[in-house]
Amino acid sequence: MGEAWARLPEAPSPQEKGVLKERIRALLRREEAVLVAHYYVDAELQELADETGGCVADSLEMARFGRDHAAKTLVVAGVRFMGETAKILSPDKRVLMPDLDATCSLDLGCPADEFSAFCDAHPDRTVVVYANTSAAVKARADWMVTSSIGLEIVADLHARGEKILWAPDRHLGGYIQKKTGADMLLWQASCLVHDEFKGIELDLLRGEYPDAKILVHPESPEAVVALADVVGSTTQLIDAAVRMDAKRFIVATDLGILHKMRLAAPGKTFIEAPTAGNSASCKSCAHCPWMAMNGLANLADVLERGHNEIHVDPAVGVCARVPIDRMLDFAAKHKKRVQASGDLAKDAALFSNVGAA
Ligand code: 13P
Ligand code: SF4
Repeated sequence: MGEAWARLPEAPSPQEKGVLKERIRALLRREEAVLVAHYYVDAELQELADETGGCVADSLEMARFGRDHAAKTLVVAGVRFMGETAKILSPDKRVLMPDLDATCSLDLGCPADEFSAFCDAHPDRTVVVYANTSAAVKARADWMVTSSIGLEIVADLHARGEKILWAPDRHLGGYIQKKTGADMLLWQASCLVHDEFKGIELDLLRGEYPDAKILVHPESPEAVVALADVVGSTTQLIDAAVRMDAKRFIVATDLGILHKMRLAAPGKTFIEAPTAGNSASCKSCAHCPWMAMNGLANLADVLERGHNEIHVDPAVGVCARVPIDRMLDFAAKHKKRVQASGDLAKDAALFSNVGAA
């Protein structure tokens, strides 16, 4: 994890913010560009993406949106694997990012050469990788999945008798293994944000708010997932907050998501899941340091100067596209089922192997 550092952009003053936003709107028009943002980036970037015809989404929808949009330039506000996925799916488009050093601990924790050796050692297994990986790792995979569809794809492979080699997130892999009963060999990386949520403290918090429903991203540790009312991708958790009757929710994922949750479910209360307490060695802020590298100033700058372009070796890109296309085709074929999987409490019979802990 030697390279795991993040450079936070300086926060502009309220007056500078207004000027920067106006500049970004004009530059998006001038460059015929569209802004594709993840739910974990700053609220202001999410608002700009929404109001300028871009999208704010989970990593599955970001990939799909960028591929299908007519714009010649995609500006990805998120982390590097999201920009690379956009480039792999749209090799003829220009893909820019506010900061190319915005990485992910899962990507860093799965170097392509070590991963390749792991695959070579287990040639009888179908290789399934999480989206949070480099293009080179994806190029070695049979399937790529995101958290919104990994469970369904592995369940399908398992039903066909395939044994799985999974990388890199050990918590998501373990969760899928438990839910599907698939034979899965797991790589052992984790997300440094979700790894900090604490099961013991979450249980205590639940005691304080017995009416609250618990929403958990599956990159969280098993003890946290075990307490969840809904387990799902970022979009699925927002969906659950809207559709469930509860008035209060405890949320175990990056706090950037709270902006969209509050907009989508006004009048409901969202409480951050604990990252500190007696079982913690420190208190984390539950915010991804690399997502936080996306700011208004570097976004304006990248549009103005056209630098920070994502390049993927075309030969690697062609190979990496195969597992991504497989996932997108699977998602298109099973659309209704996947969209509905956010709130499994209500659809338990239909989605008996999907989502709820
Ligand atoms: P989603 O696919 O749920 O948006 O997750 C991406 C991610 O990096 C979560 O930490
Ligand atoms: Fe990676 Fe975790 Fe950041 Fe998501 S929140 S981008 S998994 S480090």
